[in-house]
Amino acid sequence: MSTLEIRDLQVSVKLPEGELKPILAGVDLTVKSGETHAIMGPNGSGKSTLAYSIAGHPKYEITGGTVTLDGENVLDMTVDERARAGLFLAMQYPVEVPGVSVANFLRTAKTAIDGEAPKLRTWAGELRGAMEKLQMDPAFAQRNVNEGFSGGEKKRHEIMQLELLKPKMAILDETDSGLDIDALRIVSEGVNRVRETGETGLLLITHYTRILRYIKPDFVHVFVAGKIVQEGGPELAEQLEAEGYERYVGTRV
Ligand SMILES: Nc1ncnc2c1ncn2[C@@H]1O[C@H](COP(=O)(O)OP(=O)(O)O)[C@@H](O)[C@H]1O
Ligand SMILES: [Mg+2]
Repeated sequence: MSTLEIRDLQVSVKLPEGELKPILAGVDLTVKSGETHAIMGPNGSGKSTLAYSIAGHPKYEITGGTVTLDGENVLDMTVDERARAGLFLAMQYPVEVPGVSVANFLRTAKTAIDGEAPKLRTWAGELRGAMEKLQMDPAFAQRNVNEGFSGGEKKRHEIMQLELLKPKMAILDETDSGLDIDALRIVSEGVNRVRETGETGLLLITHYTRILRYIKPDFVHVFVAGKIVQEGGPELAEQLEAEGYERYVGTRV
């Protein structure tokens, strides 16, 4: 059983001139393994900033508050220490890694996270199985990471990592954006498989409610202007679907 605890998190983005622009204005959130949380909010509200801050992106400066995973201070860890501690981020815009094949990338990541190389015999099967479940052509394993991948292929590749790496906590930043209806279903089924293991805490960040028709969150948090302004169960997502964010916008910190 794992717990990610975010307390009064305040974050600024570092601007090129060296100035700091405050984005997160005190975020409180607790996610336990087996739970699925949805963070929903309008564009520019700071959702990706929250995701990147937890993952350790250098563009963001933590100006207050704490993030712990099972009591360990995440904010003191390097990016790869965070990954080894069990944190996983599926990025809104996955990056290309020229010269590194999907197969190599996944094996290297698995080795780094587990502290030992996966057994050759079982690993090949696991990789093949993960690709099949996500309806990815086996030829993908030999392609360079994200190079020339379509939007949907990038997102499937993110979910393949999630299924193979089995993190304690996974943050999925707009995994639904840019997906057609079939890809959305395939990706959602992958997330639901991870969910059903009960071993991973999931934080789904989304602008739209449509992914929540496929993945039922246990908790919904409405995120506006750098903080959580309302919390509830799945019914809150339905209310947002009907009413949009309009009633929250204008909320100033
Ligand atoms: N490099 C940057 N320079 C200036 N503003 C930025 C930069 N990066 C992010 N921001 C601002 O931070 C705010 C939050 O962005 P983001 O976390 O991406 O929001 P969301 O993911 O909810 O759409 C936005 O107003 C965005 O313009
Ligand atoms: Mg975003």
